[in-house]
Amino acid sequence: MLHLAVFASGRGSNLRAIDQAILDGQLDARIVAVISNRAASGALDFAREHGIPALSLSEIAAEAEDSWLQEQLAKCGCDFISLAGYMKLLPAGVVSAYRHRITNIHPALLPSFGGKGMFGRHVHEAVIASGAKVSGATVHLVDEEYDRGPIVMQRCVPIADDDTAERLATRVLEIEHRIYPESLQLFADGRVTVRDNKTSIRS
Ligand code: GRF
Repeated sequence: MLHLAVFASGRGSNLRAIDQAILDGQLDARIVAVISNRAASGALDFAREHGIPALSLSEIAAEAEDSWLQEQLAKCGCDFISLAGYMKLLPAGVVSAYRHRITNIHPALLPSFGGKGMFGRHVHEAVIASGAKVSGATVHLVDEEYDRGPIVMQRCVPIADDDTAERLATRVLEIEHRIYPESLQLFADGRVTVRDNKTSIRS
């Protein structure tokens, strides 16, 4: 079983999808904490409503963040971290302490359309402007850079000629809600190994 800390800055729909997959028996995990850099995030509200420890980073000084986070993660028994719409880089000490046990979800097919500034509608606008015929969602391991670690799972959605960023975002989000819990279950089953900066999934 994964003891998950979910980091989220925004509305938290991926957090809800993960929680639902756990309730439905599709994901062998327990959410041990929800952590946000925004005190007003929907993800923290969801955590409080569901009796999950909800931690806000907004009062923590930047220089204390790394050690504070490591302390809180240890305290709640976290053994795996999932970023779900977290708009900040994780401190280097946390990345290193949880190496290959941190995932992120991105609303496009990495390594395209990722990196700093590529979030929310910016991603879908850039995808449509590129003339690409497919987009999708990517779950990947997290390293020290935005959207860069080894890819764990991707799924595509077609792009229609008259697509808008909003419509594409809605369809990609549906895929995200499916592949994030599915990817986490691969880790819960111990099926993911990392070598040469690539993952392989044991069948
Ligand atoms: C998702 O599109 C995710 O891919 C990206 O941020 C968004 C978070 O949405 N990293 P939500 O807060 O989970 O609804």
